[in-house]
Amino acid sequence: MKQFISVHDVNNINALVKKALAYKADPFADRNLGTDKRIGLLFLNPSLRTRLSTQVAAKNLGMDAIVFNIDKEGWALEFEEGAIMSGNTVEHIKDAAPILGQYFDILCIRTFPSLKNKEDDYSEMFIKQFIKYAGVPVVSLESATLHPLQSLTDIITIQEDLKFKNQKSKPKIVLTWAPHIKPLPQCVANSFAQWINAWSEADFVITHPHDYELSEEFTKGATITHNQNEALKNADYVYVKNWSTYNDYGKVYENDPEWMLTNEKLKLTNPVNGGAKVMHCLPVRRNIELSDEILDGKNSLVTQQAGNRVWAAQAVLSEILNAK
Ligand code: CP
Repeated sequence: MKQFISVHDVNNINALVKKALAYKADPFADRNLGTDKRIGLLFLNPSLRTRLSTQVAAKNLGMDAIVFNIDKEGWALEFEEGAIMSGNTVEHIKDAAPILGQYFDILCIRTFPSLKNKEDDYSEMFIKQFIKYAGVPVVSLESATLHPLQSLTDIITIQEDLKFKNQKSKPKIVLTWAPHIKPLPQCVANSFAQWINAWSEADFVITHPHDYELSEEFTKGATITHNQNEALKNADYVYVKNWSTYNDYGKVYENDPEWMLTNEKLKLTNPVNGGAKVMHCLPVRRNIELSDEILDGKNSLVTQQAGNRVWAAQAVLSEILNAK
């Protein structure tokens, strides 16, 4: 693997999941793979899970990890080619990235969208500029439109749970929009849709209110409905996530609490094994986006899911180290 930006960088999803689960069973199996190698984790935004799980994964492989909160501790970066830098930006990415590429063997970067300009965000300029100028493999820790380490984790968690339940039939997976007080990126939902479609081992349904359509680039292949109750019928997994509008970009039109998942709604899901398992990438606003009764209940997979972030990162870093 030369980089990890989206599902398109993965040859075989199931093989990568298998590798991740092997690391979960034996975290230090490749403890010397990254000896004398250094990984840089650059953050332009806050993080708990991504930041710490990737550091733990790197450490398990024997790598040295250095975290840099570039938005707070570094010079303000310019990403536009040909920019006349008379504003707030101090250093161009074409100057900074090759230097970072000399300091590190792998560069990981988290950026977020502005949610102001769809074309700019969906061009993925920030991460593409890093790839262009760094000269070393780049791993996305979440970009403007995608969150691939999260999505790999999500499939790992689903496969792990299917095995635990001994379920042989194709699972029904529902991605449902949930209310939120602020406009959030579409990254997690886009990425989940992209990966589940590519995995193609599930019946995949997306449900959201009118006007919350995601980009077809990612959702094509899924069944899409505005009727959440209909979508939940016989579901095995319900992935809960808020996102802001894509078409009229970055808006919050709707905050109907009826869209929040409850135990009552879970009664619509597949009753075998006690109803659908519920997933969320976290952080979550309790009792806005997802109810206490779900998060604290037996159907929640969120803690297991967040724990699996380590094994997803470890599998990806291992693939990159093996290809170097
Ligand atoms: N799910 C996720 O990416 O969490 P953090 O924002 O805390 O990294």
